[in-house]
Amino acid sequence: MPVKFRSGESIPLEMHKARMVQSLNLLPVEERVKASQEAGNNTFLLKNRDVFLDMLTDSGVNAMSQAQYAAMMNADDSYAGSETFYRLENAIKEIFGTAFFLPAHQGRACENIICQTFVKPGQTVIMNYHFTTTKAHIIRNGGKVSEIVSKEGLEVISGLPFKGNLDIERLRREIETIGSANIAFLRIEAGTNLIGGQPVSMANMREAVKIAKDAGILTIFDASLLSDNLYFIKMREKEFLNKSLKEITLELGKLFDISYFSARKLGCARGGGIITNREDLYNEMIGLVPLYEGFLTYGGMSVREMEALAVGLRESLDFHVIEQTPIFVEALTKELLAANIPVITPAGGLGCHVNAMSFCEHLPQGQYRAGALAIAAFIAGGFRGMERGSISEERNADGSERFAEMELLRLALPKRVFTLSQIKYVADRLTWLYENRNLIGGLRFTFEPKILRFFFGRLEPVSDWPQKLSEKFRKDFGDSL
Ligand code: F0G
Repeated sequence: MPVKFRSGESIPLEMHKARMVQSLNLLPVEERVKASQEAGNNTFLLKNRDVFLDMLTDSGVNAMSQAQYAAMMNADDSYAGSETFYRLENAIKEIFGTAFFLPAHQGRACENIICQTFVKPGQTVIMNYHFTTTKAHIIRNGGKVSEIVSKEGLEVISGLPFKGNLDIERLRREIETIGSANIAFLRIEAGTNLIGGQPVSMANMREAVKIAKDAGILTIFDASLLSDNLYFIKMREKEFLNKSLKEITLELGKLFDISYFSARKLGCARGGGIITNREDLYNEMIGLVPLYEGFLTYGGMSVREMEALAVGLRESLDFHVIEQTPIFVEALTKELLAANIPVITPAGGLGCHVNAMSFCEHLPQGQYRAGALAIAAFIAGGFRGMERGSISEERNADGSERFAEMELLRLALPKRVFTLSQIKYVADRLTWLYENRNLIGGLRFTFEPKILRFFFGRLEPVSDWPQKLSEKFRKDFGDSL
């Protein structure tokens, strides 16, 4: 809950207390350089023991509540027909108002099932914006992606409250040009991940879904980042100021033909699921669950995680729970803006997104500005973010680079994990890095996988810039870590 201090400053007060903690390790800067080299200058390959603040993602690392842990002890282990599954299914029915639920081990597993079932070779999936795994599954099934996020969605600085909105005129044009029969489905992603965790308004979703439905096109909702999006619908969309989170969620559940989610994000557990009110669609997908995930009453999830998820989903309807990430993202964004550091505005959900395109404008885009910034930030402060730029793209069919529209360093804020002093530390080290940004050099691949290269690709610095950065750190900070 944001509260005002006497100075007038607004502080994101934690509406919880920590009763189980994990110790952290902050390596000296020289060892941070060594660790980044060993990790092939890819923050995905760092060992967590070398990381101080793990801001790579919120996926599977959100703090769980005591009620979630307690529920885990009360699980019913069974291959088929476990009570745990029915408890989860009931929670989902109650929260989304949908009749059918297919469990899966995580979000991309849902995407695998959905894309194998509904994407035919040559078809297009229209969406506000892609997520890496979603696009990979669509392409793997012979499909194409058409992104129609609003123009402002790709502008770094904006005052628009819903930058994840679809451009409705473009949607109409795309349907007319491509033709409904060649469109696999319309996909709307809540809390649009790759453009900075930016929300989509209910008004926009209603309009887009109506157009698609009128044209006979299937509508699919990626609800992985729903809790942040719910917060923004309630806070920024007038109609919903006095509506409960439950009412908003119920409307969303009913709006789409199919919704799916990563329970590593939504519900603060580990798993995933597909929900629908349409029995015909449920029956089309059902066979793939036992094939890829496991029997229909666990879908690759452990019973303990399913129990935690049932409780976590209910807790996602508690305003004090879901506001924690957005108000912390806003606090970090504000600190960075005060230091003139280029960040995505308005602050969204998921994390703070630093604009590497201008932070590292002295580097050619082909030397991976966001990837270089991610490594420089780890050297400067021991925190690891995630590159969300050109490294996260795949090459064009002819082997040429496909440069990303945005070069971002995402500093994720897993729900209820970090404290305000840790946030202030991140802002301080990033400010130092910004003042010394000319010391950041580029990266080049030494090993480049064909699919999702950002996960385990290895890179090297184009010069000895990491050492120079570390020397400057020592000079400025003396003995401090
Ligand atoms: N959709 C969205 C919008 C996501 O953000 C993610 C995962 C997925 C689908 C896939 O879910 O990881 O459970 O398989 N996002 C994570 C992230 C990985 O770090 O942003 P998953």
